Amino acid sequence: MKIIRANSYQDMSRKAANLISAQVIMKPNCVLGLATGSSPEGIYKQLIDWYNKDDIDFSQVTSINLDEYVGLSHDHEQSYWHFMQKHFFEHINIRQDHIFVPDGSNPDAEEVCRNYDQIIQRFGGIDLQLLGIGVDGHIGFNEPGAAFELGTHKVRLQESTIQANKRFFESEDEVPKEAYTMGIKTIMQAHKVLLIASGSAKATIIRDALYGPVTPQVPASILQMHPDLTVVVDREAGALLP
Ligand code: GLP
Repeated sequence: MKIIRANSYQDMSRKAANLISAQVIMKPNCVLGLATGSSPEGIYKQLIDWYNKDDIDFSQVTSINLDEYVGLSHDHEQSYWHFMQKHFFEHINIRQDHIFVPDGSNPDAEEVCRNYDQIIQRFGGIDLQLLGIGVDGHIGFNEPGAAFELGTHKVRLQESTIQANKRFFESEDEVPKEAYTMGIKTIMQAHKVLLIASGSAKATIIRDALYGPVTPQVPASILQMHPDLTVVVDREAGALLP
């Protein structure tokens, strides 16, 4: 595990974007596992900026996103599909048929999850998996108690996740209660994992995830076992690290 300490959110974003950029330069047809949330927004901004300066080319890249809310279609403003288009894909030259997000509008969980695992396999697995972390230690939407050996599956969101994510919706009632998420098994099979965290609300969970016991109660703690994990934290998120 390599921990990179950044001074600020912007510095974290730039450092993490550098690592993603290096991946794309080293392997132009790589598969990126991308993430939503506030944490990666700065990374996407930075990558768009480098794309506009002709420093990075996404024409051969494939993106396979981590998760999606059940019940939200692509055109729903809070769907993760929409988030990714708005914050990243619309601004770069990635092919639309190289973009994958679990289909939240399909209620047939078995079909959605089976298809998604087949897509991941068809592209040869994920080269670089970008991850944020939930305040309860979730990665993707793998909530505490999630089995480590699962592929893509449907989950019920924890109350703390609904509370944390309600800021994006008009009211708490509108926050979906379920999601499709890539499983921890798939995340652990990624060749490289890049975990980012920003802000004081993440300090305790980042410490527990990286230095506490490896337990399904803290899903991100399994990342301690990943052979190629890089963590980029800003000063606040890294405040409790040794
Ligand atoms: C959501 C996503 C996660 C993300 C987490 C943290 O629940 N499913 O992938 O890591 O939020 O989000 P933020 O970066 O906004 O704190």
